[in-house]
Amino acid sequence: MVIVRSPGRINLIGEHTDYNEGFVLPSAIDRAIYLAVGPRRGSDVSLTSLDLNDQIQFNVREAAKSKKAWANYLIGVVHQLNEAGYRIGGFNCVFSGDIPIGAGMSSSAGVEAGLAFALNSIFDLGIGRRDLAKIAQRSENEFVGVRCGIMDQFANLLSKGESALHLDCRSLQFEHIPFTRKDLEFVLCDTGVKHSLASSEYNLRREQCETGAGIIRKYFTGVRSLRDVEPEMLREHKGELGDMIYGRCEYVVEENARVNLAGKYLRQNDYDKFGELLYASHEGLRDRYQVSCRELDILVDAATKIDGVLGARMMGGGFGGCTLNLVERDSAEEFKSKIRKSYERDTGKIPQLYECSLMPGTDLVPD
Ligand code: GLA
Repeated sequence: MVIVRSPGRINLIGEHTDYNEGFVLPSAIDRAIYLAVGPRRGSDVSLTSLDLNDQIQFNVREAAKSKKAWANYLIGVVHQLNEAGYRIGGFNCVFSGDIPIGAGMSSSAGVEAGLAFALNSIFDLGIGRRDLAKIAQRSENEFVGVRCGIMDQFANLLSKGESALHLDCRSLQFEHIPFTRKDLEFVLCDTGVKHSLASSEYNLRREQCETGAGIIRKYFTGVRSLRDVEPEMLREHKGELGDMIYGRCEYVVEENARVNLAGKYLRQNDYDKFGELLYASHEGLRDRYQVSCRELDILVDAATKIDGVLGARMMGGGFGGCTLNLVERDSAEEFKSKIRKSYERDTGKIPQLYECSLMPGTDLVPD
């Protein structure tokens, strides 16, 4: 039997760029799902969620969709391993964790990548971390029905700790950029709004990006995705793109540039400039990509008025979930109390706040 720690993630910057073959800058954090996974005789699989107090059994060769939404994140991984031709036997899996569900810290990638990692280990499948990330992503695409990119699963499996993972989502080349300022920390403010719109709107944004890239491709050879597009190319064909698609594409093109700039600022230890990019990212997500919501905007607005905040933005798919705030450690208590008050005043709700640190990706918990 193995015990695997599979972390949640934050994304410093680079939202909705992964499925456009662009750049992202996430990291695993100090919240995680722990999975105890061991082989059993025969071909039965038993999955137990301690937090939901629920259980499901199925035959490993018949990994079909379940009515239980939580189980599909795990059954999907078994299905993908079968599809890819890996022979796995029956197993038991019991798991529990402290990544809040629906807050945008990617508890889903936590269970998918955590199980893929555990099965790779107990059945000695010899799959590398990048390929495990792809298996976990495919499982979410096909079994859960969200056409997510590779960011969450990759951050889960390849983060190093005390650094951000600069990932090229096309080549899957990456660099760990150290996060050196110990006097700064990330605080997440949870709107408490569950992103119910998220999966349909998410898939729609993806289609809109593909439409935009398709139009630009007619005029410029070698354009595979928005990754290959420059702002001038969009401007030249603004009429044909139409306002809405133009806005979506412009956001993605600018966000890719921001991620690379953000990486540069981290390397140069220029955290003020880095923070400004977070605000700019939020504006684009709110006005051009239109995946924010009232509660997220209230939190970001409030953050701009509090001392000791270097930057803030909505994080993840959008329509709810958390904002990410880069805050001076000495001001963190004051930040938390002020933002709590202002959110309560404007929405009547009390936000959950999470301080988080950058941690290594999924691994075995030593005996
Ligand atoms: C979700 C998806 C990711 C990514 C983000 C938006 O978290 O799972 O692949 O697209 O949204 O950046």
